[in-house]
Amino acid sequence: MYKICDEQPQDVAAIEILLDVCFGPERFKKTAYKIRENLNPDQALSFVAKDDESLLASIRYWPVTLGGTTEALLLGPIVVTPDQQGKGIGVELIRYSMQKAKAAGHKIVVLVGDRDYYARFGFVSAFDAGLSLPGPVDPDRFLVAELAENALQGVSGVVAGKGASNGEAGSATFSPPCQA
Ligand SMILES: CC(C)(COP(=O)(O)OP(=O)(O)OC[C@H]1O[C@@H](n2cnc3c(N)ncnc32)[C@H](O)[C@@H]1OP(=O)(O)O)[C@@H](O)C(=O)NCCC(=O)NCCS
Repeated sequence: MYKICDEQPQDVAAIEILLDVCFGPERFKKTAYKIRENLNPDQALSFVAKDDESLLASIRYWPVTLGGTTEALLLGPIVVTPDQQGKGIGVELIRYSMQKAKAAGHKIVVLVGDRDYYARFGFVSAFDAGLSLPGPVDPDRFLVAELAENALQGVSGVVAGKGASNGEAGSATFSPPCQA
């Protein structure tokens, strides 16, 4: 049994270990990581899944712009601890967080990931939608979803970090833990 909770400062170390296990140090070279450099994740949309003993999964979203003007979220990374993968935690974490993002007024989410996995949440080709990334990416893995009808109408251009700062991830104020 697990719960979805708001990410807390004390979760950050366990999340980094999980990311190292699942993605390795090479992850820092990826275009999505380059966009996130000097950004802080949206703390209101940073969630973890936990059981009584440990952290099982993490998801984060980052503030970006599309074409320099339209605000959007960059989803990722999402990671589930290897021995808990395939049990529905990832799907629940994405559905839960996308609902929260929509309720907070966000309209567009982009990500780099497996299309077969993300199609169920409404993600489609971002290249076909006229978007691009500021670095190399497998075109099949660059995806976008609308959280509001026609949010992508008239939107095109490059994904860039919004309001980049030199603050460290995890330094912002956190809301109370475990509500689910
Ligand atoms: C990818 C990941 C987040 C999915 O979370 P999960 O909890 O294991 O997945 P769930 O159990 O919620 O999802 C189950 C469904 O997704 C499918 N699925 C899982 N990973 C998939 C992938 N990479 N591509 C396509 N489908 C996938 C499963 O086959 C299953 O399909 P079904 O519902 O038709 O049976 C998780 O496996 C993980 O952390 N993997 C390593 C890190 C990673 O690749 N992160 C994503 C990078 S953006």
